[in-house]
Amino acid sequence: MKIFSGSSNRPLAKKIARELNTKISPLEIFIFPDGERRVRVEEEIVGEKAIIIQPTSTPADQNYMELFFIADAVKRSGASSATAVVPYLGYQRQDHIFRDGESVSLEVIVKTLEAVGINKLIAFDLHSIKIPEVFKIPVTHLSALPLFAKEIERRGWKNSDTVLVSPDKGGIRRVKMLSELLTNMPIASIEKQRDLATGRVQALGVDGKLGKRAIMVDDMISSGSTMIKAAELLHENGVEDIAVFATHPVFSDQAPKLLQESYISDVYVTDTVYIPLSSYFPKLTVLSVAETIAEEFKENSIQEK
Ligand code: R5P
Repeated sequence: MKIFSGSSNRPLAKKIARELNTKISPLEIFIFPDGERRVRVEEEIVGEKAIIIQPTSTPADQNYMELFFIADAVKRSGASSATAVVPYLGYQRQDHIFRDGESVSLEVIVKTLEAVGINKLIAFDLHSIKIPEVFKIPVTHLSALPLFAKEIERRGWKNSDTVLVSPDKGGIRRVKMLSELLTNMPIASIEKQRDLATGRVQALGVDGKLGKRAIMVDDMISSGSTMIKAAELLHENGVEDIAVFATHPVFSDQAPKLLQESYISDVYVTDTVYIPLSSYFPKLTVLSVAETIAEEFKENSIQEK
């Protein structure tokens, strides 16, 4: 087994390699003056299983192209298979046609991943549980919810005064799953409306009984609007302490600043997406998914023996 890393999240790739007591294999990623990339495998890998770690977060287009080129390079260099570990799968939100005339971006991505020779995909907290069905190759869909449950228990947040809240109806399944990991912590949800043309978010109402503390759970934080608007509504409804857990810190625009200035007291995310130092803020805690991903390879290598 050989582990390769694209340039989108090398710290995570290093942690995964460390968990597996191995090193990242050398890969040349040359950037031409016009920004185009050339990828070259720098060691003998004939007959080896190649693992490529590359979340396709911002800049998604560049990170996808790198992933495609690495997959092509490892296959041309004789790897017996290529597994893409894409903890954050870019373009997954456009998984169907919302308005007439749109492209289905996810489907284009899936076709290309398969065409460049990727044999298996490992992803984390996909936006919809239906996404793996779009692929013809096997997809392992991992989740950060067990990590979140562990942290909630460590904080000593109890079912008696805490409610798990989904910031939109689409996330209720996620919140129910976390509730099951926390001896049925009570749940509630928020009715969110997003204007598809402007992206403006409104939190219209709460469904369910609230407590002193709310823990909001989502797959990702991008602009931060979903969480911030929901927190304002929870605050208006008397919630005193609001924490949020989101797997993917996409953090576009002014998200870190806005989250820091919001009613939210703690923001928990994972390292599926690399966070530059400039995007850290005092309320932020980053949990690592490296062990969860590494376990996948340990388990599989046992099954394969
Ligand atoms: C949407 O359905 C997702 O689950 C997230 O709620 C959304 O992508 C978060 O985006 P933002 O932070 O820009 O509101």
